[in-house]
Amino acid sequence: MKLTKIVSFRLPLIVCLLTCGLLYCFSYFIERWFEKLSVHQNVSELTSVISSIERELTYYSQDDNRDEFFQSLLLILTGHHRLFVYIVDDSGKILYRTRGPNLSIALKSADFEEIITKHTTTVSNVNQSSYRIAASRVITDQNKQYTTIVAVGRDLQIEFIRRLRKGLKILIGISCILALIGSFISIYLTQKPINRLIKKIERINLKNLNHRISTSSVPVKYVSLVRAFNKMLNRMEDVFQRQRNFTADIAHEMRTPITNLTTQTQIVLSNARTTEEYREILYSNLEEYERMSQMISDMLFLAQADNRQLVPNLVDINLHNMMVMICDYFEPLADEKAIKFELEGECCHILGDRMMLARAISNILSNAIRYTPENGIIKITLAQVSENRVKAVISNPGKKIDSRHLPHLFDRFYRVDESRHRNGNNTSGTGIGLAIVKSIIDTHKGNITVESDEQSTRFIINLPTAIQPLFNIKVTD
Ligand SMILES: Nc1ncnc2c1ncn2[C@@H]1O[C@H](COP(=O)(O)OP(=O)(O)OP(=O)(O)O)[C@@H](O)[C@H]1O
Ligand SMILES: [Mg+2]
Repeated sequence: MKLTKIVSFRLPLIVCLLTCGLLYCFSYFIERWFEKLSVHQNVSELTSVISSIERELTYYSQDDNRDEFFQSLLLILTGHHRLFVYIVDDSGKILYRTRGPNLSIALKSADFEEIITKHTTTVSNVNQSSYRIAASRVITDQNKQYTTIVAVGRDLQIEFIRRLRKGLKILIGISCILALIGSFISIYLTQKPINRLIKKIERINLKNLNHRISTSSVPVKYVSLVRAFNKMLNRMEDVFQRQRNFTADIAHEMRTPITNLTTQTQIVLSNARTTEEYREILYSNLEEYERMSQMISDMLFLAQADNRQLVPNLVDINLHNMMVMICDYFEPLADEKAIKFELEGECCHILGDRMMLARAISNILSNAIRYTPENGIIKITLAQVSENRVKAVISNPGKKIDSRHLPHLFDRFYRVDESRHRNGNNTSGTGIGLAIVKSIIDTHKGNITVESDEQSTRFIINLPTAIQPLFNIKVTD
């Protein structure tokens, strides 16, 4: 059986069992409450009657007030239905007895004396009817002893409780069936829009990834779910699109140098050349080979980052010193455009991979040099923003990057200049540099953002001072 079917059966059953259990407890308490109430009613009726009889008996005299006594007795018993009295003197002579069950058998019961002394009641069956019995013994002013037995019939109450029990059982049964049907219907009604939604989702595949589920076709409670799902589709579509572009870009990036190399080789082979000419062409080819090799190693680096195979070799790094070192390295290149570096800020220490971070900063600086106009100044600002975070801002003057490009700048092969052709002076790269920067910063559990306006373009890096040392740490100066 399918899991959904088991679940859709299980829930109504649970609801049914819970209703059943609750109603059973409820009916049990009602029954007990009625039983207690009827006992209480009987006991108070018996007590009041017996104490009235006791009072009358105390002054009873066979010669003086016999008629008066019987009249009082009748008055006491008026209004008490199914109440029976039996009064007997110490010689066993019956003084008074109502029509009905023979209560004298109570005299022979074992607990009779206890009922009298402790003023309790007992339940007894006489002629297949149940009675609650109370008794008392009175010594009159003339020193005569009378025993009074009073009984009240319980049959009506027993019958009432029996019917109540039966009624409650029927009520429990009906309620359970209704609860079962009700929960089946409510599950069906709740499940129906979900099933429709599932069918729509199942229809979405790679070919129609641009399809979105309309929020107007689903109940209000599922609107946020559908919105979240549509957002997820947006992200997936974006990833798939980038994946497709990525493959196309790789093919393109590889094809261009290979075509160049093939054409060049064909031209060279078409005629005899001098050694000098061969050497020149081979140098030119070498440049393309190096470029391709660099691109392949960049791709491998990114693939490793994607597969979380980049293992940072954590060491203590003085970020200020590292910046000075990289600026020194780029100085000859910057000098060509009379670009200056300005380094501000404190000496920040972080735990990181020296090679990786140097590569990331070099990529940003090489871009900065490429896009800074002549005589420009590239500013590097370092700051300890909190106890465990440092911030590095690398800003360069130059043309503003349009805001629509900013969110994609760290994507692979993304270049602001959409033309793929490199111009003669080779200012444009492959568009991998910033993707590598981002994966390095991510590996260090930091984050990088970019801002650009008419004055400058700024890359803002936030790094934790210490990331979890999962791997071996070498602490150096
Ligand atoms: N400092 C900057 N000023 C202006 N534009 C920039 C700057 N840095 C990057 N860009 C833009 O971002 C794009 C992507 O940069 P990225 O470093 O990833 O690629 P690239 O420099 O073109 O090639 P690669 O670095 O792989 O040789 C660049 O093509 C450029 O348009
Ligand atoms: Mg670059």
